[in-house]
Amino acid sequence: SLRAVSPDDMSGKHVLITLGPTREKWDAVRFWSNPSSGLMGACIAMAAWLRGAKVTVVSGPVNWWFPEDINVIKVNSAQQMFDAATEVWPSCTTGCFTAAVADFKPIPHGEGKFKKEGSSALRVDFDTNPDILKTIGSMKKDDQQLIGFAAETSNIQEAAKGKLERKNLDLIVANPINKPGAGFESSTNSVYVLDRAGRSEEWPDLPKTEVAWRIWDHLLLN
Ligand code: CTP
Ligand code: CA
Repeated sequence: SLRAVSPDDMSGKHVLITLGPTREKWDAVRFWSNPSSGLMGACIAMAAWLRGAKVTVVSGPVNWWFPEDINVIKVNSAQQMFDAATEVWPSCTTGCFTAAVADFKPIPHGEGKFKKEGSSALRVDFDTNPDILKTIGSMKKDDQQLIGFAAETSNIQEAAKGKLERKNLDLIVANPINKPGAGFESSTNSVYVLDRAGRSEEWPDLPKTEVAWRIWDHLLLN
């Protein structure tokens, strides 16, 4: 198999990966979400598995196939992703948080379907969701390593540095989501990476499969 001919440089590691969007339910037929495909996270999970790691994926609603020995926990909401990730994390050596988590959730209208009759406009109030990565960062032990992502439309480098520090990360991978060939629904990504020692690199536009492989190279070699 491909796994047998790949390097074994991640064996002994247990990697937790979050991926995909979250869905925040408003009524029986409507939710708040975003267009994340989960591809970047799926590539990172596959790369870790090929390199010999034990892999647990906490996945929002996406349509990826994973090899049977990758443990996939399917969730919908940010709260469910939070519950799954915080439960698995203590047994992991490494985390890579790629999910496009909804920062806010609409306060549900109710269990039934909201009817349009009699409403000419709609106002929806939102509550905050927990920051999953920040919580995991605060739980992180000295022998655990944590990678975060940052989706940015401006000031990428400063924003990435802020998130690396606030969330207690070892590495952050930032992507300009408004640039062609990067971010949501793209099969390539051009990223800026920064580690906690202050070393940074800008990688060219690469297939997400290649970005995934390089992220693990970067973490293992530094
Ligand atoms: N993240 C998370 N839980 C959240 C929000 C974000 O785990 N509730 C993680 C993402 O998976 C990503 C990192 O935190 O690895 C940064 O996400 P991003 O949306 O870029 O940053 P935020 O901290 O949410 O700030 P903002 O959206 O305002 O830029
Ligand atoms: Ca966010």
